[in-house]
Amino acid sequence: MPIPLTYSFTRYLSAKKSVDDRALNQHVWQSLAAALPRATLDQPLQILEVGAGLGTMVERLFAGAMLTNATYTAIDLEPTLIAEARRRLSQWATAQGLQVQQDSQEQLHMQRPGQDIRVEAEAIDLWRFVAREQGQRTWDLLIAQALLDLVDVPTTLPALLSLLRPGGLFYCPITFDGGTVFQPEIAPEFDAAIEACYHQTMDQRLVAGKPSGDSRTGRHLFTHLQTAGAEVLAAGSSDWVVFAGPNGYAADEAYFLHFIIHTMHTALAGHPDLDAERFTAWIAQRHAQVEQGTLVYIAHQLDLLGRVPAPLGETRE
Ligand SMILES: C[S@@+](CC[C@H](N)C(=O)[O-])C[C@H]1O[C@@H](n2cnc3c(N)ncnc32)[C@H](O)[C@@H]1O
Repeated sequence: MPIPLTYSFTRYLSAKKSVDDRALNQHVWQSLAAALPRATLDQPLQILEVGAGLGTMVERLFAGAMLTNATYTAIDLEPTLIAEARRRLSQWATAQGLQVQQDSQEQLHMQRPGQDIRVEAEAIDLWRFVAREQGQRTWDLLIAQALLDLVDVPTTLPALLSLLRPGGLFYCPITFDGGTVFQPEIAPEFDAAIEACYHQTMDQRLVAGKPSGDSRTGRHLFTHLQTAGAEVLAAGSSDWVVFAGPNGYAADEAYFLHFIIHTMHTALAGHPDLDAERFTAWIAQRHAQVEQGTLVYIAHQLDLLGRVPAPLGETRE
């Protein structure tokens, strides 16, 4: 595909789905399926997804037979993404043979015999959501996919875990962990300098004046979770590996690659440690490699599944 003239985060998240589908760690995924409590119509599984984007995890859990009776709360900061999630999920559910009803502006109700799923999608900052719901409501499962590397984990994690019922589960897939690889190499030392500077932008990111990022969030999660009093049940890598096969890049993954290169360009433009002219040429060459189908991109990430403590004898089967 030619280099895009404009970039859309919505299209990027949509293009990311096939990359994530390949990347998700199957051991962690199967451990999640095994750990989920049984759900009934009277006692549906309560799932909260934070930073849900387009709601693609709903589609994935459904395909993995993990959504039979469930209330799925999907929140994201961005109203445009939540609006698109509602539109997309409604269309997707109809295509799955589910009956879809819009119960309210925020709630989609999807049904077929033996299956009853309510998706509540809301555009709200996670901190406002935590402040509103803490002590009011709890969930059986918290999902945060490709989110924790964008926030201050030491403060955000305990706040999010406080929304779980005792013994509740959390699933944090596609958590960035310090590897951004492009092949073929252009100039090994310059490639490495760009990777280091890019990771540094994550480590130094501030949102509203607060630290919001860590380029090694995946590995650091083990300690953060221990500090928060939670246990890890399963963990494994979920690296993105994007390459062109005999028919080119899969699905919309050429767009995905252009978006990643554009993101790096934006993050590093004017960086004092990178020669500006050389960096601009490097970015142009990476875009050209996508057009030619020669670029291979690998990002190292981890998936973690865990549980918050339950008082002895108190578990939901
Ligand atoms: C990298 S995207 C991942 C989206 C989705 N989980 C996925 O994997 O396709 C991160 C998402 O987190 C959302 N996000 C970031 N900070 C947030 C916050 N403070 N509260 C709620 N959502 C947030 C962003 O708007 C974005 O949609």
